[in-house]
Amino acid sequence: MNERTPLIATIHVAPPRRRYTHNILRRFCTIALASALVALVVLFLLPVAFLPGQRHPKPHPIGPPGQSANALTFKELQEILLETPKEHKAQEWSKYYTSGPHLAGKNYSQVTWTQERWQEFGIKADIVAYDTYINYPLGHRLALYEKAKSKDVGEVDAWKVKFEASLEEDVLEEDETTGLENRIPTFHGYSASGNVTAPYVYVNYGTYQDFEDLIQANISLEGKIAVAKYGGIFRGLKVKRAQDLGMVGTVIFTDPGDDGDNTDENGVDLYPEGPGRNPSSVQRGSTQFLSVAPGDPTTPGYPSKPGVPRQPVDSAIPSIPSIPISYVDAIPILTALNGHGPSPKTLNKYWQRNLGLKYKGVEYNVGPSPDNLVLNLVNEQEYVTTPLWNVIGVINGTLLDEVIVIGNHRDAWIAGGAGDPNSGSAALNEVIRSFGVALSKGWKPLRTIVFASWDGEEYGLIGSTEWVEEYIPWLTHANVAYINVDVATTGPRFGAQASPLLNKVLNEVVQLVQSPNQTIPGQTVGDVWDGEIRTMGSGSDFTAFQDFAGIPSVDFGFKPDEGAGDAVYQYHSNYDSYHWMNTYGDPGFHYHVAAAKLWALFTAKLSEAPVIPLNATDYAIALDGYISNVETKLDAAIIGTTSEEEDEEARARPTTLAATGDIHALKLSFKKLHKAAHKLLKAAEAHDSWAAELAEEAGEDLPWWKWLSKLKLIYNIRKVNSKYKFLERKFLHKKGLDGRPWFKHVVFAPGLWTGYAGAVFPGLVEAIDGKDYGNAAKWVGIIEGTLWHAAGSLR
Ligand SMILES: *[C@@H]1O[C@H](CO)[C@@H](O)[C@H](O)[C@H]1NC(C)=O
Ligand SMILES: *[C@@H]1O[C@H](CO)[C@@H](O)[C@H](O)[C@H]1NC(C)=O
Ligand SMILES: *[C@@H]1O[C@H](CO)[C@@H](O)[C@H](O)[C@H]1NC(C)=O
Ligand SMILES: *[C@@H]1O[C@H](CO)[C@@H](O)[C@H](O)[C@H]1NC(C)=O
Ligand SMILES: *[C@@H]1O[C@H](CO)[C@@H](O)[C@H](O)[C@H]1NC(C)=O
Ligand SMILES: *[C@@H]1O[C@H](CO)[C@@H](O)[C@H](O)[C@H]1NC(C)=O
Ligand SMILES: [Zn+2]
Repeated sequence: MNERTPLIATIHVAPPRRRYTHNILRRFCTIALASALVALVVLFLLPVAFLPGQRHPKPHPIGPPGQSANALTFKELQEILLETPKEHKAQEWSKYYTSGPHLAGKNYSQVTWTQERWQEFGIKADIVAYDTYINYPLGHRLALYEKAKSKDVGEVDAWKVKFEASLEEDVLEEDETTGLENRIPTFHGYSASGNVTAPYVYVNYGTYQDFEDLIQANISLEGKIAVAKYGGIFRGLKVKRAQDLGMVGTVIFTDPGDDGDNTDENGVDLYPEGPGRNPSSVQRGSTQFLSVAPGDPTTPGYPSKPGVPRQPVDSAIPSIPSIPISYVDAIPILTALNGHGPSPKTLNKYWQRNLGLKYKGVEYNVGPSPDNLVLNLVNEQEYVTTPLWNVIGVINGTLLDEVIVIGNHRDAWIAGGAGDPNSGSAALNEVIRSFGVALSKGWKPLRTIVFASWDGEEYGLIGSTEWVEEYIPWLTHANVAYINVDVATTGPRFGAQASPLLNKVLNEVVQLVQSPNQTIPGQTVGDVWDGEIRTMGSGSDFTAFQDFAGIPSVDFGFKPDEGAGDAVYQYHSNYDSYHWMNTYGDPGFHYHVAAAKLWALFTAKLSEAPVIPLNATDYAIALDGYISNVETKLDAAIIGTTSEEEDEEARARPTTLAATGDIHALKLSFKKLHKAAHKLLKAAEAHDSWAAELAEEAGEDLPWWKWLSKLKLIYNIRKVNSKYKFLERKFLHKKGLDGRPWFKHVVFAPGLWTGYAGAVFPGLVEAIDGKDYGNAAKWVGIIEGTLWHAAGSLR
């Protein structure tokens, strides 16, 4: 059933060459020791391309006869990668991608265009398609009806339209793509079709606890339409909770109260005149329940190849209709609730924040709407099973069983998408063009590099998830790391999330690239970065790599800090356009270029260093920190307090009143966790320092007659690298997390109730949150097991 095409068929990467695996190397070594003659022959058969190392000033002096030596030193490669990316090129790519609609599965010409550019740059590229279940918008309507008292005696009271929402974003003269004939309507991915007419309730951010507050306040929710603000949690989870409570529809609006200082209320000019949000801007987006499983909802855990069996989608996507609206459209609907039901003042503090429409007369009363007011919500979606297309490029390295994958998604909710995702697509093209220049100078990477332009990310990380599900055996065997850039830039501030194994490389590359901010001349991206590396959550294409396949991943890019006065990023709206980008987001495209350089160097460091530059010590230290964090949480549960920060997260999940299991025994069991983490730390330190020694040796120039030392060094490097490569896999738990078996990683997962944010030790933390201390004890056992396993693997 679970048909897997061998990789070689589509992307032309050979299966690992057996003679490079270290078991066989070991055999060769034995032979070598026994007979110098045989050993000499063996020596010439070995992949010696990675000797000497990066520090060596000249091309390889040794190479097997007949095989051309690598023509570039690392330093020369680095220069090419830092000099090739150019602003005008990034602008050219961005302009192309953002000049027409490219919704998932809808723009094949952008697929072939991407493939052709990559081929032109000298990289072999193929199109890899999946048949996926997906929706496209047909129609929508949102109208407020009022029952008007009839003036004439004897006539029935009639429902009249009091307000008809435009559900359209303003067409701006300055911004071409906002006026395209074929522009994409406002809608939600994976939303249900429906036509409902009902009273409505304002539900704040629509978190679990927001709904609980309404229940506490005796607001009846069943049969009503929820009007929620964007923010706090993933939008699909707002719809899910409304649906679970028997509500019949959801309307989600953007509140300018969440836009920081650049608001109309503060007198800031609005787009296109200024950096503030255009009042008609609408956030499209997916409502898939992605914290349970991303990818095609009809094929959880296996690739959506034509003809595969399809699962029912009921638990993966909403069954009630939902639509996104602008704040202009929200104002009359919210104002009509003034004076009806509780006001924020009578509710808790979470209802009193960021009320950005107060200055427009909205009191944020909860409702429900009075008897003479109802909303009509119509959402018409067409569901189809249709091809999505990834473009996959490959540069074969000397080693085919050590692979670096880098990727960005191509699909957008709108014709534009200059920030999300095509700032990343433009940067990716510059990265590939740079590697192409290196190839033309005779360079060949040590490790194989795979480039991906994913489709269908926006609907639920579909292209990347299906691809990982298809190639999981090969990726498990060969993939060293995945480097994701979704949004390369929407503002000037660098941000990153990563598996701690990759912290070291990340910290190195940010020091190698000049910041476009030259307030202090010569400062690097690293110099103006706060240095914070967030934990891996979800919300982009690294999810299947990190959380399903156990491949260390990183995601980075430049974002705005709206609180610090950066232009408001009008996410998933028509104003995420080329014009916006070149005027406010990244005038001159300097941050695009910086992102391309960071990405290329990150890739090159991972692909070229003889010893893979992962750092296990950083992982062990981080793990011990995560254990302490969970312990702090547990201590708080014992004495019954919570921190402010936990408060926010707790808003997103249900409260459990009755505890089961023994909390004190659980607390004691944390000793075992720390002990195992300590064991891992010791093993990691030993491994890293051995790796550092080998890296040092690899940089030395060994005379030819020291062939035996050379052979031994190669053997040891292969061994160290293989341990680094498989370390992250040790944190996978076959059965997956409770209630969401697709998520296999015991350390990282998206928060079950928040959707985006990274949760550490999700199984354990969810059990503690649910006061199920027996289940938490089970998770302590599982985590302890993975820590010992990981420590053992490094010895
Ligand atoms: C990579 O190497 C394999 C095996 O040698 C070969 O079949 C494949 O065509 C190569 N792919 C590329 C992109 O060079
Ligand atoms: C695909 O994108 C291109 C360029 O971005 C655009 O010109 C074209 O109209 C789009 N095609 C479709 C079918 O939307
Ligand atoms: C929605 O349902 C109402 C009542 O059944 C009907 O009058 C209206 O035409 C429907 N709207 C659409 C767009 O189908
Ligand atoms: C909700 O209803 C219950 C029972 O009818 C009542 O005891 C309680 O005071 C009400 N709460 C509010 C906030 O009105
Ligand atoms: C630009 O650099 C200066 C000097 O380092 C720093 O104070 C400022 O915060 C930076 N601004 C941005 C947007 O990075
Ligand atoms: C690995 O990380 C640790 C802790 O950050 C650091 O002390 C050590 O030098 C690093 N090792 C290598 C080889 O980079
Ligand atoms: Zn994106």
